[in-house]
Amino acid sequence: MEVNGILDGTGLSAPASSRLVAESVQALFRTGGKRLRPALTLLVAKAMGAEKERLSRVASLAASIEVLHSASLVHDDILDAAEFRRGEQTMHVQLGERAATLVGDFLFATASVLVAELGSLPVVVLISKVVADFGRGELAQSAVRFEAVDYSLEDYLAKSFYKTASLLAAACQSAAVLSGAGPESPQAQSCYKFGAYVGLAFQVVDDILDFTSTEEEIGKPALADLKEGNLSAPVLFAAQERQASGDGGEFGLDPEGRRELLELLDRRLSGEEDLERTKALVADAGGVARAKALARRFVDLAALELEELPDSEARAGLRTFAEFVIARSF
Ligand code: FPP
Ligand code: MG
Ligand code: MG
Repeated sequence: MEVNGILDGTGLSAPASSRLVAESVQALFRTGGKRLRPALTLLVAKAMGAEKERLSRVASLAASIEVLHSASLVHDDILDAAEFRRGEQTMHVQLGERAATLVGDFLFATASVLVAELGSLPVVVLISKVVADFGRGELAQSAVRFEAVDYSLEDYLAKSFYKTASLLAAACQSAAVLSGAGPESPQAQSCYKFGAYVGLAFQVVDDILDFTSTEEEIGKPALADLKEGNLSAPVLFAAQERQASGDGGEFGLDPEGRRELLELLDRRLSGEEDLERTKALVADAGGVARAKALARRFVDLAALELEELPDSEARAGLRTFAEFVIARSF
């Protein structure tokens, strides 16, 4: 029997099934996506003045963040029964749910090892918390499907923090720490808040795009979140009673429209025209416009946090980054 290679894994033969897994993982990273998270991580480090060795450690962090994000998407697509992402078939469609779950787990574990290898305990703690937050956010989301009455905008934002913003916040603070800032320093704390606000804006815009974009633009079916009963900012604003929006306009529905929306949700949008009718009600009620204003507010709050960082080209880049997050159409 050949003993060499048993302990380090190099002795594993590669049956056809693991080749398929390897190919699917390669395709997952090749189809890419926007790579926003690693770009943000590197920009924060530049804004914090990191160079050479420090910058190279942040580059490793940036890669681990992308692996972690990809892991969460593999699991997310199983939970959401999503068949397409970035215009490609999702992992569980290619491999089946069992194998895809394991690939997701493997990617989570790989990201953890990469982060631990950076040798910074504060960073390990920050990123580990993100993985717990993913679970918290998804569990919170699955508990309130099709629920618009006992589900507040605050609940939605807390959930959005856990499933999306926590990762961007921790990535930014970790980049500051690896650039030499103390974890509790005002600059590292501002980086965390910057990432958190950008993350919240990102999720609100993602939820707006579910209503306003075509499948071709976003690489995944439109109205998918709504169909699954994951109610987001546009619906939650629309489901409120008609009221002044504070900027001279109005939002929300009159009693009749509100009754209709709640009935549609109550029957879980099961009728043939229900999705489109809900979309129209949300648009009439100014739900999308209010959600856009909310995303704008988060970007403004993010910009304020940047004042804690020294003036530089990279800091201006972070400002542009935040603006891109709400200007994007994909
Ligand atoms: C995308 O949201 C979802 C996430 C960014 C988080 C996914 C996290 C998990 C599935 C939790 C994994 C569990 C543990 C315990 C680590 P979305 O579905 O609104 O976005 P989409 O439209 O891009 O699919
Ligand atoms: Mg999803
Ligand atoms: Mg999801």
